[in-house]
Amino acid sequence: MQVILRQIGNCIIRRCDPTDIIPVMEINLKTLPEHYSDYFYESLLDELPEAFLIAEISGKLIGYIMCKTEYGFSNFKKLGFVKKGHVVSVAVIDEHRGKGFGSELVNESLKGVKMRQCGEMYLEVRCSNNDAVRLYEKLGFSINQRLKTYYRDGEDAYLMAINFSD
Ligand SMILES: CC(C)(COP(=O)(O)OP(=O)(O)OC[C@H]1O[C@@H](n2cnc3c(N)ncnc32)[C@H](O)[C@@H]1OP(=O)(O)O)[C@@H](O)C(=O)NCCC(=O)NCCS
Repeated sequence: MQVILRQIGNCIIRRCDPTDIIPVMEINLKTLPEHYSDYFYESLLDELPEAFLIAEISGKLIGYIMCKTEYGFSNFKKLGFVKKGHVVSVAVIDEHRGKGFGSELVNESLKGVKMRQCGEMYLEVRCSNNDAVRLYEKLGFSINQRLKTYYRDGEDAYLMAINFSD
């Protein structure tokens, strides 16, 4: 059964279904340089379906977000060990950007991660990716660290995080 979370005009935000994985992989291939095996997508869907979401217009997938949960040191509390959400990948196809769908995907995934009792959420983003950095800042994330040569091509990443107890 489809779990629809939000509707923005003709776009629905809903939980991913196993049959969506191939189109999600196609969007990933078109939009981002970081790619994954089909097994990896399936394992994230298995592990955290509440935060593996897709945006769909008239039956066509136009965006996705996928996340995982981890235990580790807090990005906010000194020496704190917490359960955290981690955005693994998010993208919206070019022709549907700037319409709020990316923000809705991130926003709904934050709710999904909170359902799993995470205290915070974090992600890595290329320092040059101004659109994405602005989007995350608008949703309450802040830049926590700069990760030197994080990407294979040598670019640095910002680690951005949001604390749910703020
Ligand atoms: C990042 C991405 C997912 C944003 O999706 P989107 O649907 O365009 O995002 P939104 O429409 O919700 O925009 C949210 C904010 O981001 C910024 N933004 C997004 N796209 C923008 C654009 N084309 N031009 C200017 N600002 C933009 C704006 O600040 C916007 O805020 P606003 O609502 O006040 O205008 C999309 O640009 C994308 O898929 N990029 C390629 C993949 C990628 O970089 N993923 C992130 C990896 S960490």
